[in-house]
Amino acid sequence: MMANLNSICDASGLEDGKPVAAKTPDGRDLVVVSHRGKVHVLDGTCPHRGAPLAEGWVSDGCLVCPWHGWAFELKSGQYAPGVGVATHRCEIVEGRVQIKG
Ligand code: FES
Repeated sequence: MMANLNSICDASGLEDGKPVAAKTPDGRDLVVVSHRGKVHVLDGTCPHRGAPLAEGWVSDGCLVCPWHGWAFELKSGQYAPGVGVATHRCEIVEGRVQIKG
């Protein structure tokens, strides 16, 4: 288990390919996506114009922004070279999605 894990959402309610909004313990927006048996946690605000990425959808291994369609790779958070959102390592512990820090 990783040190300093913080629970951000219930894992049992995650549906494959359906983004869910969550927050860091200090209140920053996150988006949690279960996809093909893996759970991904990314920063939840689009760096283009600030759309809530939890309202986006999954396509071709990417989370697509609901406003203008930027597509962030679930694994890396990258949209284009040098442009993307941060990803967070996570674990499922006792039925909760937990991130480090
Ligand atoms: S706000 Fe996300 S692509 Fe424009």
